[in-house]
Amino acid sequence: MLILGIESTCDETGASIVSDGALVLSNVVASQVELHARYRGVVPEIASRAHIENILPVVMEALTGAGLELPNVDAVAVAHRPGLIGSLLIGVTAAKTLAWALGKPLVGVDHVHAHLYSVRLGTGIEIPMPAVGLVCSGGHTALYRVGDFLDVEMIGSTLDDAVGEAYDKVAGILGLGYPGGPVIDALARQGNPAAVRFPRSRLNRQSLDFSFSGLKTSVLYHVRGFQGRQRKTIPAPEEIRDVAASFQAACVDVLVEKVRRAARQIKACSVIIGGGVSANSGLRAAMSKFSLPVFFPPMQYCTDNAAMTAGLGHVLLAAGRQSALDLDAIAATQFNLTKLADLSHATN
Ligand code: KG4
Ligand code: ZN
Repeated sequence: MLILGIESTCDETGASIVSDGALVLSNVVASQVELHARYRGVVPEIASRAHIENILPVVMEALTGAGLELPNVDAVAVAHRPGLIGSLLIGVTAAKTLAWALGKPLVGVDHVHAHLYSVRLGTGIEIPMPAVGLVCSGGHTALYRVGDFLDVEMIGSTLDDAVGEAYDKVAGILGLGYPGGPVIDALARQGNPAAVRFPRSRLNRQSLDFSFSGLKTSVLYHVRGFQGRQRKTIPAPEEIRDVAASFQAACVDVLVEKVRRAARQIKACSVIIGGGVSANSGLRAAMSKFSLPVFFPPMQYCTDNAAMTAGLGHVLLAAGRQSALDLDAIAATQFNLTKLADLSHATN
């Protein structure tokens, strides 16, 4: 089965063709990073307008890349939640229109759920279940109990910033531009992770929730002095490398510790990690020593893409979770992916 996936939840316009839920025939992403970089974050109105311009060229490029034409597609999958409402509406409208015009099934996919599924792309590997799922990205940091890809329950989430958001804000403090993750990751590899002991917010002993805003504020105070006011200049390059390495060490420590707690609590057989921060070299190195099998997506499927949407769409369709053509774009994060999948994938 060939599925056309469409992604437009935030600032990347993506289209992809995936065969049988795993074999990626094409994966096109039109990045808007340059449009948003000067604002050090995504500007929703700019993102929606760019999606309108990009969506059809990206879909056509995905088809051409796979050597297909529109009628060869068996179904259309679209990330319809959560995200920026204006951005979501472009992808959802395009997907509904294509599904209706082609007379092919439509399936709405939860973007966070798709980040978990991304570990199967390229390989179709079977994951020992139940697994602890960690989604760590710019918009989300949450833990899940994954019984299988149709049985996903949230067991912890961030109380404030997402970890990728903390990377982006710390990059701003250090004058490193946007997005912050890749550049901090690269600098961290050259710095001393023990140079500054930034706080690790573990909350209470059992908690599976996260908090990254205190860490971000500690970096601000460390770099600019008490209350972030004393020093206006950007630190020297060696200091930036050490702060980057020390900040990354704090993030990785917390993520690994929470995954360990979750694995113990749900008696997990494996761990799956997705989302933009799953590209992080420090997190990958630390998890390589974990006591259970750990699955990361191939690097090109860590950040937002439509291949993960098409892949998960295959699983949902195979389980009869086709969506009606009145599928809504939903901005909010949903707590229980399975229950909400049941609600929104009403069979036609
Ligand atoms: O999954 P994604 O593309 O978008 C959301 O769904 O939010 O994640 C983007 C986030 C950004 O915050 C970016 O700074 C972060 O992922 N990121 C990284 C790395 N590459 C991207 N964070 C840490 N290390 C990286 N190598
Ligand atoms: Zn994402």
